[in-house]
Amino acid sequence: MKSMNRHRKQRDIPVLNSHAPRLSSVYSPDERVVLFQGDCRTLLRAIPSASVQLVVTSPPYNIGKEYEARIDLDEYVRAQGHVIGECVRVLKNSGSICWETGNYVDKGAIVPLDSILYPVFSGLGLRLRNRIIWHFEHGLHCSRRMSGRYETILWFTKSDDYVFHLDEIRVPQKYPGKKFFKGPRAGQYSCNPLGKNPGDVWTIPNVKSNHVEKTDHPCQFPVELIERLVVALTDPDDWVLDPFLGTGTTIIAALRSGRRGAGAEIMSKYVDLARDRVIASLNGTLPVRPMGRPVFDPKNAGKGLLSAPWLRQKETSGNLLQTCEDYSVAE
Ligand SMILES: C[S@@+](CC[C@H](N)C(=O)[O-])C[C@H]1O[C@@H](n2cnc3c(N)ncnc32)[C@H](O)[C@@H]1O
Repeated sequence: MKSMNRHRKQRDIPVLNSHAPRLSSVYSPDERVVLFQGDCRTLLRAIPSASVQLVVTSPPYNIGKEYEARIDLDEYVRAQGHVIGECVRVLKNSGSICWETGNYVDKGAIVPLDSILYPVFSGLGLRLRNRIIWHFEHGLHCSRRMSGRYETILWFTKSDDYVFHLDEIRVPQKYPGKKFFKGPRAGQYSCNPLGKNPGDVWTIPNVKSNHVEKTDHPCQFPVELIERLVVALTDPDDWVLDPFLGTGTTIIAALRSGRRGAGAEIMSKYVDLARDRVIASLNGTLPVRPMGRPVFDPKNAGKGLLSAPWLRQKETSGNLLQTCEDYSVAE
């Protein structure tokens, strides 16, 4: 009920900003925002070769979500291969492709999708620059394996001459006061004052129930995850493309940093949702978790959440309950 209200609220947002670019439903190089309803291969066919600076997406994982028919894994890889081939064609020579995936699951056994898709990209001549681990702290609790708390982003470039703005994504140093202790610069500060390289393990909250960006879509990625890729791998006015757009997150991340955004979404209810979110973003009314905000520190949670009830009981009565199950603890 709560999420339906949230959805309804987002549906009637008019474009208030008269300088905002218009939303086009068909691709043209003159546009700045293209939201195509339909199969991504149709949108891709309309895009000229070597015109897009960044393709970033999270495709269906073939796990039987409402927007996908579960198919044989080889067939899935072939279908992804067709889309990836077209993405490589539209990509500029200096451009990047970032493919964000998790696991395919078959009767409890997992297949990491990045491992089975890697040969498709490398077979098309792309070079892998990073396998970024996107770590998050919430999700389903498994009972017969460890709960999954990361997905990966394969970052490929089309050539060795690629755009990479490291200074745009530097993060605060752990020890900014650290100094060289020997050598010609002994006594001087050793850190880069602009911050340090963020590394290839990114801890960013996933979009679950309490996240400000949560909609009715089951698998949104957070704007800040994509914004970091956009500012590092593109320049202002470049095209950023998402063939599996969902709720419009990639377009929102692109527009927030002065890039152009295009995407395809096959389900009309998600196209509506994406359109409303893009408009709200252009109006400055879309709630977005800002890039670089530290992850919530549980030490700041209410006291009631921080102490175990079975230990509290022991403190007051002197009796420790026998097991956690007495409290219906899930895992
Ligand atoms: C994992 S979700 C992407 C969610 C997105 N990253 C977001 O933040 O909202 C994949 C999306 O691809 C859409 N989709 C599936 N097949 C498609 C196709 N052939 N063309 C375009 N969109 C498709 C699904 O409806 C789904 O919304």
